Amino acid sequence: MTHARQHTMQHPIQVIAHRGASDDAPEHTLAAYRKAIEDGADALECDVRLTSDGHLVCVHDRRVNRTSNGRGAVSALELAELAALDFGSWKDREESPDWDPVPGELTSVLTLERLLELVVETRAAGRPLQLAIETKHPTRWAGQVEERLLHLLKRFELDTPPDEGPSPVRIMSFSARSLHRIQAASPTLPTVYLMQFVSPRLRDGRLPAGARIAGPGLRIVRSHPGYIERLHRAGHRVHVWTVNEPEDVELCAHLGVEAIITNRPKQVLSQLGRF
Ligand code: G3P
Ligand code: CA
Repeated sequence: MTHARQHTMQHPIQVIAHRGASDDAPEHTLAAYRKAIEDGADALECDVRLTSDGHLVCVHDRRVNRTSNGRGAVSALELAELAALDFGSWKDREESPDWDPVPGELTSVLTLERLLELVVETRAAGRPLQLAIETKHPTRWAGQVEERLLHLLKRFELDTPPDEGPSPVRIMSFSARSLHRIQAASPTLPTVYLMQFVSPRLRDGRLPAGARIAGPGLRIVRSHPGYIERLHRAGHRVHVWTVNEPEDVELCAHLGVEAIITNRPKQVLSQLGRF
């Protein structure tokens, strides 16, 4: 029996679909999130940015050039302008042979509001789906991203954990300041501090104020597996991104991480013996 299999039987690792099932369908589209749900993902990951007219949309890059047929920065475009673009046909059919471009809502720009609706619908149908929302470049907006985000979560009643069970939503960021704002306004929302490298002041396993969960990149896990142990010893859960290859899933399982963020939820769940 592999380490991954053994670990799963003792403590199931949460499998989070990174930008949806983004290997199989264009990232951050309804098509990618529906596919992730169909594949059995425990949670969905998304990045959020503000449009020029104040809507939160799920787009990773500062500009829309890579993932749509348009050009320009999200922050300089209105929602109506983004809604006129196609976020699906850039996806390489050779790399993702199952991807069948469908124009319309499935490949339009995805608002956070629409994604929250999907999460609420799925949960109402009895599946405890969770959502991990990453605030992108929040410092530029001096608190507006967090303010809009919390407002939406409250409207959908996703800002507090249910009587039983974990919070349906967690907030992630590379910005400690962003997480601090979230924690100050909504202390029960779990926060994940994303790390590309380990800064010297955090080497002992501490996290910045406002952060509850550690989110190291895979590069950290590969090069400093002992750091994961330190985080665990300091009492933190560890969510690793972005883990796609079987040997890296195996490593994460061996180290006992609590969650894996992946573009390939179906393959990871299968490797972990979940499906
Ligand atoms: O889940 C965290 C991960 O998404 C951070 O990196 O660039 O994919 O947003 P990025
Ligand atoms: Ca992200």
